Amino acid sequence: MEFIKYEVEDMVGMITINRPKALNALNSQVLDELNETLDSVDLENVRCLILTGEGEKSFVAGADIGEMSTLTKAEGEAFGKKGNDVFRKLETFPIPVIAAVNGFALGGGCEISMSCDIRICSENAVFGQPEVGLGITPGFGGTQRLARVIPVGMAKQLIYTARNIKADEAYRVGLVNAVYPLEELIPAAKKMAAGIAMQAPIAVRNCKKAINEGLQVDMDQAIVIEEKLFGDCFETEDQRAGMGNFLEKDKEKKLKVVPFKNK
Ligand code: CAA
Repeated sequence: MEFIKYEVEDMVGMITINRPKALNALNSQVLDELNETLDSVDLENVRCLILTGEGEKSFVAGADIGEMSTLTKAEGEAFGKKGNDVFRKLETFPIPVIAAVNGFALGGGCEISMSCDIRICSENAVFGQPEVGLGITPGFGGTQRLARVIPVGMAKQLIYTARNIKADEAYRVGLVNAVYPLEELIPAAKKMAAGIAMQAPIAVRNCKKAINEGLQVDMDQAIVIEEKLFGDCFETEDQRAGMGNFLEKDKEKKLKVVPFKNK
């Protein structure tokens, strides 16, 4: 792969978008490589992903403006679909994905971070949807996800004015969960990922599915989704071990439960 690095350590996979000369902008090749990387993740052994950008300046500075500059209407739509398909794969990926936003997260960069389950960022992070200043709409899910992640009036204001916001404001509006000095960002992401990876993996996956799918339907249907996924857990070894150890009040055994089985 030319533009994506992927490494696994202690059941956590780290995907790094590696095109620093263009501030990790997303061209078709980056999107294709990201898609292939997601397809290659070993879901038997990896329990959480971290997504970040190479370098100290930029997470992802958006879709590639050079590539987009000559697109026709049909090609523009196809490029939007290419990005949307990969981002949707990330959003519905069976295991949690943490975006560690290490600098610019503009346009497609803000959009890819919003396809992740959790966003944390460095103090130098800048978020925004500058597309209307380029004569286009956000095209990789920004019009949909920003209005779902932060209050809709604030999402509209940011998109209509193309105003970028810094890390502190991103935190204040709820776009990120936490802000760290740059050198502490990846350690914090790894610590959070490790905290997820040590939990019962099927339960974690079912939580992601229940939250994501439940948000798409009304509450009556949503609780039925939860009930089924809750019920599924009672067929797992993790449920028997986890509850058994609690009831036995055996601290030693409680420790032995970790790491849980992935089946
Ligand atoms: N596409 C292509 N190349 C990009 C890029 C992008 N989105 N962002 C940065 N680059 C390239 C620059 O062209 C430059 O390349 P050269 O060295 O070959 O000239 C290199 O990265 C470094 O960038 P700058 O010199 O501009 O760096 P800077 O520090 O002065 O500015 C910046 C940084 C403010 C992020 C600025 O690069 C910028 O405004 N980038 C564009 C951000 C943007 O508008 N993103 C949205 C794209 S549209 C989109 O994403 C649509 C969608 O929803 C799908």
